[in-house]
Amino acid sequence: MPISIVEQLPASTTTCKFRSGEIDTQLRLHQTRLSEVWPDAGASKANRRRAPGPACRVALVIDTRMAAFESRPAGRHFLLDGQFLLWIVRSMIDSQCVAFLQWALPHPRMRWPGFRKVRKQVCNRVDRRIKQLGLANVASYQAYLEANPGEWPVLDGFCRIPISRFYRDLSVFDCLRNEVLPKLATQVRQRGDQEIGCWSAGCASGEEAYTLAIIWKLDVGTQHPGIKFHIVASDSDPDMLERARRASYSRSSLKDLPKEWLPVAFELHNGLYCLRPAFRDAVGFMLRDVRCDMPSGRFDLILCRHLAFTYFDEPLQCQTLERLLSKLLPGGIFIAGKQESLPAGCLKLLEEFRPRTGIYRPASEAAAKMRHA
Ligand SMILES: C[S@@+](CC[C@H](N)C(=O)[O-])C[C@H]1O[C@@H](n2cnc3c(N)ncnc32)[C@H](O)[C@@H]1O
Repeated sequence: MPISIVEQLPASTTTCKFRSGEIDTQLRLHQTRLSEVWPDAGASKANRRRAPGPACRVALVIDTRMAAFESRPAGRHFLLDGQFLLWIVRSMIDSQCVAFLQWALPHPRMRWPGFRKVRKQVCNRVDRRIKQLGLANVASYQAYLEANPGEWPVLDGFCRIPISRFYRDLSVFDCLRNEVLPKLATQVRQRGDQEIGCWSAGCASGEEAYTLAIIWKLDVGTQHPGIKFHIVASDSDPDMLERARRASYSRSSLKDLPKEWLPVAFELHNGLYCLRPAFRDAVGFMLRDVRCDMPSGRFDLILCRHLAFTYFDEPLQCQTLERLLSKLLPGGIFIAGKQESLPAGCLKLLEEFRPRTGIYRPASEAAAKMRHA
């Protein structure tokens, strides 16, 4: 697709010099083209030397000596240098991102403090959506949300944060390994059962669930022959579940896993660590939104970490906790994120199993109620 040169910029200009006033003028000039034309990846690395800081509106720079541009660039940050043309990308500055999230998050019953650190990730997705819809800026997107209730679930999807890793929070998994799982195995045997049931809610790409499977198979399970360990892992994001089923990970996802387990549990394929089939069998994945949809049955162990108690508003946290606890078997254990605080109104439902680990058991009153249910 040929491009027309709208304006030549001086060689010394950098993207960071362009702030909102000028950008908006540029934006109007380029608006129609922006949604169609992107430079191809042929723009050399040298032209992408420095990404502008968060306070800069981002500019896209095209080498005018290149005649045709068809595919999207790998990155969006380019530095002007030589014969380059500036194309403006509608990108939110940080203060707009904060204001937008503070306005939008209460609608899907989420809370701003949970998103403070990950706001850039969410706003980048919103930026791409603004572009896809052909809207001018974030204010137009706000108006679009108000006029189109069907857009809220789209935004809800942008608020899913997929960060996880194996053996995330050492003290938590050490306690699971040394205390919780052995206790549950004894309990299961005492009640004449042969299986420990576990639910990992908000399982991301399966890291948490597979960590449990590895701990059981390589350690705790060897001391409890005859007891099976089964994990239901759920997430509301079908793409995450797809990745979980593939069970291939980069080295960074495995940095906290005890080193001696790495070659036993994983094989290296094309630079990725693939979990061996023997460790996958214990885990079943399913699509579930923890706000409204839960797996059937009750469990000895439930983990809901870095999800409800980080991102949901307080009343929704309370409702979710009550629903999660209703799925716990007597003597069961509930695990929230180590750094997450449970909502004050619901603290009476639980007592700490081990302080400062996020590992709880239902308070005796709640446990008694469950026994008589
Ligand atoms: C930050 S990850 C936490 C992963 C894992 N639990 C851990 O602690 O490492 C949050 C996960 O929750 C999922 N999620 C977000 N909202 C959800 C919801 N309403 N129901 C179920 N899963 C949800 C996201 O897709 C994401 O995979």
